Amino acid sequence: MKQGIILVGFMGTGKTSVGKILAKRLGMRFIDMDDLIVERAGKSIPEIFEQDGESVFREWERNVVLDLEGCHDFIVATGGGVVLNPDNVRDLSRHGFLVCLTATPKTILERLRNDTGRPLLAKGDKEDRIRSLLATRQHLYNAIPRCIKTDGLSAHAVADQIQASYEHKHS
Ligand code: S3P
Repeated sequence: MKQGIILVGFMGTGKTSVGKILAKRLGMRFIDMDDLIVERAGKSIPEIFEQDGESVFREWERNVVLDLEGCHDFIVATGGGVVLNPDNVRDLSRHGFLVCLTATPKTILERLRNDTGRPLLAKGDKEDRIRSLLATRQHLYNAIPRCIKTDGLSAHAVADQIQASYEHKHS
C-alpha cells in the first residue's frame, strides 16, 4: 500500500496550500491537523491558546498525531510546532512520507504579513517573533531528512518536487 504524505515546517512555509494540491493530484484525502483540533476543541486556535494555554494545545496536537496511526492515503498538513515533541516526529515518520518545508524569515514574513490567526506571532513585532521562534526550532526542522526550500517557489512548484521524490520512492 502507498504511504500518505505528511508535511511539517514552520508557519507560512506552505504546508496547507501544497498539501491540498498534492491531495488533488494524487487522489488522496487531505487532513489539516489544526482544523481537526479546532473541530474537536470546539474553538479556534487563538481561543485555545488564550483560554487554555499552549500546553493544552500541544496535548490536542499530540492526540491528533496518535490518531493518525493507521491512516494511509492521506496528505497531512501539520501545525508548525508539531516538531517540538520528539514523539510526534518519531510517530509521524512511521505514519507516512515525511517532508519538511522551509523558508527564510523574510519569506515567512511576506506570506504572513496580514495573518491574524497565529497566536504565537500575535504579540510584539512579527518579524522578531518569527526570527526568534525559528531560531529555537531550526535544529528540529533540520533533523527531518527530506527538506524542501520554498523561497521563491509557487505551491505548485513545491508540490512538483514532493511528488517527484514520492513517486521515485514508490516506483
Ligand atoms: C503553530 C503553528 C500553527 C498552529 C498554532 C501553533 C506553531 O500552524 O498549529 O498556531 O507552534 O508553530 P501552522 O503551521 O499551520 O500555521
